[in-house]
Amino acid sequence: MKQNQDNKGADYQGADYNGPSRVFSGMQPTGALHLGNYLGALTKFVDLQDEHECVFCIVDLHAVTVFQDPKLLASQTREIAAAYLAAGVDPDKAIIYPQSQVAAHTELAWFFNCVARVGWLSRMTQFKDKAGKNSQAVSVGLYAYPVLQAADILAFKATHVPVGEDQKQHLELSRDIAQKFNNDFGVPGFFPLPEPLIKGPGARIMSLRDGSKKMSKSDPSDNSRINLTDDAETIAKKFRKARTDAGMVPDNIDALAERPEVKNLVGIYAALSGMSETQVLGEYAGQGFGVFKPALADLAVEHLRPISTRLNDYLDNPDEVDKVLRSGAEKAAAISAPIMDDVRRVMGFWGT
Ligand code: AMP
Ligand code: TRP
Repeated sequence: MKQNQDNKGADYQGADYNGPSRVFSGMQPTGALHLGNYLGALTKFVDLQDEHECVFCIVDLHAVTVFQDPKLLASQTREIAAAYLAAGVDPDKAIIYPQSQVAAHTELAWFFNCVARVGWLSRMTQFKDKAGKNSQAVSVGLYAYPVLQAADILAFKATHVPVGEDQKQHLELSRDIAQKFNNDFGVPGFFPLPEPLIKGPGARIMSLRDGSKKMSKSDPSDNSRINLTDDAETIAKKFRKARTDAGMVPDNIDALAERPEVKNLVGIYAALSGMSETQVLGEYAGQGFGVFKPALADLAVEHLRPISTRLNDYLDNPDEVDKVLRSGAEKAAAISAPIMDDVRRVMGFWGT
């Protein structure tokens, strides 16, 4: 196997893999992005692009595992691309493209369907949450969703994957699939074992209405989340209404253990300001939420305003976004095509 020794991540531990390091991540075009998406993933995309080769996908094939209105899918895809750009992902540094434009995803997903075991998938907690009591009536695609995710990552031999904490189990599955492929076909180090990049206070942002649920696009209450498109007044109102308790801001982290809503707000403050949670507590200990919440709202507004302005500019200029997506798809196809040639050869298909 021809492998490139250049640009190997110094800290990368993937067993036997000798190729270059590469970052891959994706977001589903299923609605406006919120503060959880931004702090859990998008800010990391921006930080990584200067030092690493980065591929950022809009995963429309994942979106259609639940029905998407065909009249809206393309514009939803453009909106996520616009959010990447508005947050600071630079198309001259990182590749941005829609998943459905690059055939490697579906092809490798099929191969991986034949590598992954049914038992592995039946343990996936996100599937159980999404399917609920309805597990017989949801699409086969929703069940196989994490296999497609493994294919997304490994069609680029990506070594690092910036995601929120909810994706940890899917990343473990990707590693298991990579490992089993390498073992089954006797090609140690063919696929890297991709590592999640999850750290930081933004990795798990919770609902503003319920500290036990993650902030989510699909929560019926819009007050549960801050959308990147919310204006200053809406952001201030949502933080004002955020659930807390009658106490004060405590002076140490341990005191947050039984106060999930307060812990969440402190985490959001830390992630937006770049301070540690301890520093935030140092600044606000003993204050009531009548002081802390408006300070948090001001910080969020200041941080998000330029992003939402740029986002609206991109949404007013869809041609510009489409140009980025088209050129990104070409670049992504050029990286994945030779990898897929090798995969077919390793599996022994005719014509390889
Ligand atoms: P999705 O909207 O499900 O496509 O998620 C896109 C990215 O945002 C993934 O990396 C998720 O892990 C991350 N993410 C989603 N919700 C949250 C949250 N509440 N807190 C932190 N990260 C999140
Ligand atoms: N499953 C991820 C989510 O819901 C989205 C996703 C699809 C993804 N393919 C990926 C994330 C590959 C990282 C890498 O958030």
